Amino acid sequence: MSVFKFALAVLLVSSLWHSSLSLDNGVALTPPMGWLAWERYACNTNCKDDPDNCIGEKLFMRMADHIASDGFKDAGYQYINIDDCWASKERDSQGRLQADPDRFPSGIAALANYVHSKGLKLGIYADYGTHTCGGYPGSGPSMKLDIDTFASWGIDMLKMDGCNANIDGMPQGYKQVSDYLNATGRHIVFSCSWPAYWVGSGKTVNYTYAGETCNLWRNYHDISDSWDSVTSIIDYYAKEEDDLIPAAGPGHWNDPDMLIVGDFGLSVDEQQAQMAIWSILSAPLLMSNDLSTISDESKAILQNSDVISVSQDKLGHQGKVVATVGKVRVFSKLLSDNSMAVVFFNSGSFAGPQNVTVTFQTVGLSSSKATVKDLFQQKDLGTFQGSFTTPVDPSSVVMVKMTPA
Ligand SMILES: *[C@@H]1O[C@H](CO)[C@@H](O)[C@H](O)[C@H]1NC(C)=O
Ligand SMILES: *[C@@H]1O[C@H](CO)[C@@H](O)[C@H](O)[C@H]1NC(C)=O
Ligand SMILES: *[C@@H]1O[C@H](CO)[C@@H](O)[C@H](O)[C@H]1NC(C)=O
Repeated sequence: MSVFKFALAVLLVSSLWHSSLSLDNGVALTPPMGWLAWERYACNTNCKDDPDNCIGEKLFMRMADHIASDGFKDAGYQYINIDDCWASKERDSQGRLQADPDRFPSGIAALANYVHSKGLKLGIYADYGTHTCGGYPGSGPSMKLDIDTFASWGIDMLKMDGCNANIDGMPQGYKQVSDYLNATGRHIVFSCSWPAYWVGSGKTVNYTYAGETCNLWRNYHDISDSWDSVTSIIDYYAKEEDDLIPAAGPGHWNDPDMLIVGDFGLSVDEQQAQMAIWSILSAPLLMSNDLSTISDESKAILQNSDVISVSQDKLGHQGKVVATVGKVRVFSKLLSDNSMAVVFFNSGSFAGPQNVTVTFQTVGLSSSKATVKDLFQQKDLGTFQGSFTTPVDPSSVVMVKMTPA
């Protein structure tokens, strides 16, 4: 037996030995909640002319301050995540990644300390290829060193992008990264981008495998600050739900990308719609917005405890489309107390509200009588027999919880 075959046999045996349905690293048992720089701040490195909005330690410290002090931490938001363009273009004399010295003068370890001192966690970004999407050093050539460096800095979450890389080898390669993360002994949430690159190149993703090696994974286009972008993602998740739903559960989540609630592109109703659908899909809730200027209305949407408890339900089911009535899709999600969360999503943008009726059987409720609570209004609507009817405004949702009575 060659060394290679022997190694393969050991791998096979050990993978059977450890055969489990999810990445066993003890984190992300409910969808991760926090903040991620990319959609709002992109690769803005111009700290000279735009000091408040550039990718630098001040931005992440300011967001950590707001998360800790403005009710977000109490609502469950925990991760402060750096995206691309944080690094220096040069590695240090020992070949390690280092932060851009002008924008992160204290370094990432000090930033991690700061974030930890607020009771929060710090995430970072790397790339599986030779260079990141923004042209900064990629980790492909020195993956183990980079993972060990992140752990030594006190990093709690890693987003591994897939620009400038060989796409074919990604599933095995990302598994290797996951093993390196495990070997550090630090419990680091692992966000994998390879399924998005596979879907983008027409390949079929094995989501069982993704769930065994990653805590969350993107599988569709990057979100941008528009309703069109949000609805195209929702359409994709509805269309692919038979493949995506079985992949989700405690420790392993489909990631439709960041929340843009509190940015420029969505009306208040549309912001509620994104929050409702991300929560019923058990998606990570990673905001990308400016928490220093966010409106009270957007803050209330992001901090709604009834909606968040649907997102964070410990069963970790991903909601399913159970009915489509005209332009209204009805999603339902089983919760651990035997209730059903239900979102009525009207993607229509013409004329007035549409009345929609669903039977309790259709949404999967185990009883013919149920109490219904409106989650955005935080209001009990009463006890209903057999079915529930509600008007749904265009480009809006109604989100309720139905509890067997
Ligand atoms: C590493 O993997 C083992 C086995 O799957 C698991 O028990 C352990 O908690 C993991 N450790 C970390 C730090 O992820
Ligand atoms: C998908 O991955 C799982 C877990 O690694 C494996 O058992 C299964 O055979 C794979 N399915 C296909 C079609 O390759
Ligand atoms: C919608 O339903 C409500 C009560 O369930 C009713 O009062 C209203 O007239 C209905 N509207 C339409 C357009 O059917």
